[in-house]
Amino acid sequence: MTALELRGLTKSFPLRQGWKTRDHFAVKGVDLALARNEILGLVGESGSGKTTTGMLALRLIEPTSGQILIGGTDVTTLPPPALKPFRRRMQVIFQDSYSALNPMMTLEQIVAEPLVIHGEPDPAKARQWLDRVGLPASFAARYPHELSGGQRQRVAIARALILRPEILVADEPTSALDVSIKAQIINLLSDLQKEMGLSILFISHDLSVVRALTDRVAVMQAGRIVEEAETETIFAAARHPYTQALLDAIPARHPKDRRRRTFPTPGLLHLAGDAPGPEPRLIHLTPTHRVEAVITSGETP
Ligand SMILES: Nc1ncnc2c1ncn2[C@@H]1O[C@H](COP(=O)(O)OP(=O)(O)OP(=O)(O)O)[C@@H](O)[C@H]1O
Ligand SMILES: [Mg+2]
Repeated sequence: MTALELRGLTKSFPLRQGWKTRDHFAVKGVDLALARNEILGLVGESGSGKTTTGMLALRLIEPTSGQILIGGTDVTTLPPPALKPFRRRMQVIFQDSYSALNPMMTLEQIVAEPLVIHGEPDPAKARQWLDRVGLPASFAARYPHELSGGQRQRVAIARALILRPEILVADEPTSALDVSIKAQIINLLSDLQKEMGLSILFISHDLSVVRALTDRVAVMQAGRIVEEAETETIFAAARHPYTQALLDAIPARHPKDRRRRTFPTPGLLHLAGDAPGPEPRLIHLTPTHRVEAVITSGETP
């Protein structure tokens, strides 16, 4: 059963060039199906249209053409009152949860707010959710500025899931986090996904995290899906040259391995783009693809 389906989804933005305005197509005819209980990775270089696709799916922006189906129902043109029950079935978390958390509200109020909006206030449930995402009870009365990036992301997850949505769009939820915190958040998302039978559209640059977490991967380039396959197939045998180039861009552990797409040590994946020093950091993955430990390169796993 399909939780979310995008059909021929297209979005253009007006782009001013000197005196003229032309249409810039951020998303071009995207077909994508997210199954129930599935984590689908959406990867691609910066500007390829990943966030725009997520925003369209959530109907936070309006498509130029195409359709969005939630649980088989076409919601593309539903007016706000009719859309409301579908909105609650679909939630989102972003990379920058700080800007999404009201600085004037306590964490309990922030997590409880979606219930209030839907006319079901329940502070006890908010406290349960703070506990569920691994925050101590004393945090209920704290404010967002008192938290670390990882703790804020836990609050954002609690707030997104308190309505028990079927679908979660996670747009680079771990990109701003340190490597060890990243692994904790990924494990939390993975546990909650299994527990709740969530369907997750997981947007990320970070191919090692995508490999660890997702069932399937869709690769975007310049607004189009250019490749889509089971996660292991993509990493073992990407067919599209663009996907191969993306995989090649993952920093290698040793300079001599830089041009290799196969990973030098089984189970060790390189985290692209977040290494502070010349040596990339590594996440150690077990065969079940759970992120068990984070090590820095040079150490033995
Ligand atoms: N509101 C907007 N107005 C005009 N152009 C936009 C708007 N939003 C996105 N774009 C353009 O659409 C294209 C896709 O942007 P989008 O943010 O979806 O990419 P992305 O894949 O999420 O990139 P990143 O990995 O950097 O987050 C880009 O060329 C971007 O400049
Ligand atoms: Mg983006």
